[in-house]
Amino acid sequence: MKAANFIDPAVAHYAASHTSPPDDLLLGLAEETLKLTGDRAIMQIAHEQGTLLTMLVQLTGARRAVEVGTFTGYSSICIARGLPADGRLIACDVSEEWTSVARRYWDKAGVSEKIELRLGPGADTLKALPQEEWIDFAFIDADKVGYPVYYEEILVRLAPGGLIAVDNTLQHGEITDPSAGGTVPAMREFNDLVAADSRVTSVLLPFADGLTLVRKN
Ligand SMILES: C[S@@+](CC[C@H](N)C(=O)[O-])C[C@H]1O[C@@H](n2cnc3c(N)ncnc32)[C@H](O)[C@@H]1O
Repeated sequence: MKAANFIDPAVAHYAASHTSPPDDLLLGLAEETLKLTGDRAIMQIAHEQGTLLTMLVQLTGARRAVEVGTFTGYSSICIARGLPADGRLIACDVSEEWTSVARRYWDKAGVSEKIELRLGPGADTLKALPQEEWIDFAFIDADKVGYPVYYEEILVRLAPGGLIAVDNTLQHGEITDPSAGGTVPAMREFNDLVAADSRVTSVLLPFADGLTLVRKN
């Protein structure tokens, strides 16, 4: 959970401490993820993002959700908790190792019945899903170069009024630095693609590491 460097740290801390906190299960998952994955634990979403994901799923009344990038399960639990009892989440990831932690925590959280894990490249999993507009809510948080494909494959299956949340769209504030390398240029291209897409209404929130909300018109 690398902190965003485009928000004053004191203000970021203040905002997080005035947001409904995670419960013991999510805190335990964050602690175990840190022990098991070390530096890679920064991939986990921030606690305040988890609170927001649950709220967004509840507010949209979503019943069918898809996530690309599950890791050890934090965001999937937050999404599943927002779904009704008969709601379903398809969770996509390539890692058997990391998602084995997720599966344990889905059991502990009592949300296993709502989640179906699909192991394999996210693009292949999404392309194999039914072509109708059946997805109500989606969260994209996997390899950054894959975002345009994940976005398109989800958008064509998204119900009108459905919502996609996309993580890491400000790249720790490096998004406006023309000399930044790594995943920044790919994210800049993705952000341009979304901003120019007349099929949707979008808002890029300077929240956590940048979270873009995309509603299908
Ligand atoms: C940033 S982490 C996801 C964090 C997660 N949302 C959470 O709340 O803990 C990114 C995940 O994307 C997965 N990933 C990487 N490449 C992928 C691909 N091509 N298809 C699906 N998942 C992929 C990684 O295995 C990793 O678990």
